[in-house]
Amino acid sequence: MSKVVVVYHSGYGHTRVLAEAVTQGVDSQPDSTALLLPVDQVPQHWQQLHSADAIIFGSPTYMGSVSAPFKHFMEATSAFYLARPWRNKLAAGFTNSGNPCGDKFNTLVQMVTFAAQHSMIWVGLDLLPGNNTRMASPQDLNRLGGSLGAMAQSNLDEGSDTAPPEADRLTARHLGERVARLAAQMSMNQSNLSSRLG
Ligand SMILES: Cc1cc2nc3c(=O)[nH]c(=O)nc-3n(C[C@H](O)[C@H](O)[C@H](O)COP(=O)(O)O)c2cc1C
Repeated sequence: MSKVVVVYHSGYGHTRVLAEAVTQGVDSQPDSTALLLPVDQVPQHWQQLHSADAIIFGSPTYMGSVSAPFKHFMEATSAFYLARPWRNKLAAGFTNSGNPCGDKFNTLVQMVTFAAQHSMIWVGLDLLPGNNTRMASPQDLNRLGGSLGAMAQSNLDEGSDTAPPEADRLTARHLGERVARLAAQMSMNQSNLSSRLG
């Protein structure tokens, strides 16, 4: 059984919807289990993060960046940076903003850098961009055309019951499925290797 922790912040609930979709994607895969962990609960759950096979990071984009509570979580990990307990774990990320671009790319780049600082292995989205031809539509997966992670857009005047839209929720779910499949494959390879080495 491989364990994936989805650690996220959401100020107004929209990014939480994505976090739940990522978690559903993980849980849909055989031999995979997800833990949904809001950043304010991380202090009670460090051990869950240290024992995970993969960690998926989620933050809204605030002022072109991860949100302050998410950054607080990132900085708290400096306490164990030298011990490298997350070395060779899989990492992935998702973000959500009010504008179609909204400078979300920078938020994902911050997460990639953070993961690399912890010697993690970054998993991209693995979906071709949608919504970019006459035959395409805003209902396409990856309608915002990201590749580092799952991107979503939530209208500023809509609640989290309708925003982000279905296409973005399914894109987030796809990311969870992908990370879970890769984590299961990695743990199978490791146990095969251990049994061959005796
Ligand atoms: C402090 C703050 C800064 C924001 N900065 C941006 C931004 O840089 N780009 C953008 O497109 N939207 C921005 N927004 C809009 C949020 O990204 C958007 O409302 C998002 O859905 C909030 O997610 P949440 O409900 O999970 O907090 C900002 C919102 C707040 C509260």
